Amino acid sequence: MTTNPQETTPNDWDTRSPDVQADQVAAYDAMRSKCPVAHDDYMGYSLLKNADIKYALEHPEIFSNKVSTRHIAVPNGMDAPEHTAFRAVNDKYFTPDRMQVFEPQIRQVVKSLVSKLPRNEVFDAMDGFAQLYAVRIQNVFMGWPASLEQPLIEWVEKNRRATLAGDREQMGKIALEFDGYIRALLDERRGADAAADITAELIQDVIDLPQDLGGPRTMTDEELISLIRNWTVGELSTVSACAGIILAFLAEHPQEQDRLRTSLAVGKTAEIAAAVEEVMRLQDPLVTNRRVTTQPVEIGGRSIPAGAKVTINWASANRDEDAFEDATTYNPHRSQENNLVYGQGLHVCPGAPLARLELRVLMEELLATTDLIEFGGANPTQNAVYPAAGYSKVLTRIS
Ligand code: HEM
Repeated sequence: MTTNPQETTPNDWDTRSPDVQADQVAAYDAMRSKCPVAHDDYMGYSLLKNADIKYALEHPEIFSNKVSTRHIAVPNGMDAPEHTAFRAVNDKYFTPDRMQVFEPQIRQVVKSLVSKLPRNEVFDAMDGFAQLYAVRIQNVFMGWPASLEQPLIEWVEKNRRATLAGDREQMGKIALEFDGYIRALLDERRGADAAADITAELIQDVIDLPQDLGGPRTMTDEELISLIRNWTVGELSTVSACAGIILAFLAEHPQEQDRLRTSLAVGKTAEIAAAVEEVMRLQDPLVTNRRVTTQPVEIGGRSIPAGAKVTINWASANRDEDAFEDATTYNPHRSQENNLVYGQGLHVCPGAPLARLELRVLMEELLATTDLIEFGGANPTQNAVYPAAGYSKVLTRIS
């Protein structure tokens, strides 16, 4: 019988407790200074320091991504050399050339959504706008029909709730629901007059696996669905959180709004990109990712056994005072060398070029088409609950 190496480890905190969930960012900041590698049953060993997280990312032979033996996860649940082959196909969809071609389409989607936002009245940016912004870009990118927008928005929300509850049965059911949507799209693209879009391209892609892993082949449906699911979760949950984070940031910093509007008016879009990067550092739209140890390891002054669940906490890494001077202060001109918002190493986010583009265009369109973005009323924001980041409510007023 195998024993769970964490069964006997005492808990330093409870990451699902109301205290932590009321303000995740503050809770991670507080725990990082007290206990940089903190244990609880839900997240296992949470790595909270920037340097420890970098060490884990640089040592995939110790911190493996194969966290589940039951489900495949393309490419995040894989280690090299399998991961390398799947990642090569993944990356070809996010090249600078592809992004350049896609930018006008993104701008069109964002322009249309921003122009429909109410003027001079209070609205909740997280109720409609943020999700629609993310899902519509995803649909255009993948070549999917508009009729999928609402089911996908609802799917992401159900998935988030089941993940927090740790409800494996429900998570399985929800995964099957997603499979159904994607299988239908794959079937359509295998038909006689199939559309020539990214979904169709993925079906044809050859994964260059080494001979001992079976040699080059196209993806199975299970692999295609898993890859598409991971793109969708990357896009829908993370990018929609970013929309709320950006709006709340602008509302909270009217002077910075003015400075960025002026920069934009003279074509200094690099200033907008730098502001987005710094805003994401301060309030990471993705809280965590998982690893499992392949051997015993000492990290952050703590001994972790082999086979242990490890959680990389990005939200904490990016506010670590040992990695950033005045870590909790907004400074768009600081070096972003230690910013881990898109990860680092083998599993660094392949969608980062797309995400950066979407977020820059969003900030540009918000600034270009408004005179002022403000909060609407008292208590305008409500913090999101894990695994979501940012806010579940951002009461906004634009003029
Ligand atoms: C602001 C938005 C986003 C943030 C903050 C973000 C962040 C990250 C981070 C930190 C990782 C590394 C995970 C790890 O090391 O375990 C990652 C991986 C990944 N991201 Fe993103 N992401 C974003 C948007 C996207 C988008 C738009 C896509 C695709 C359309 C995407 C697809 C993926 C995939 C497939 C992986 C797994 C890569 C691998 O394991 O090799 N992400 N992302």
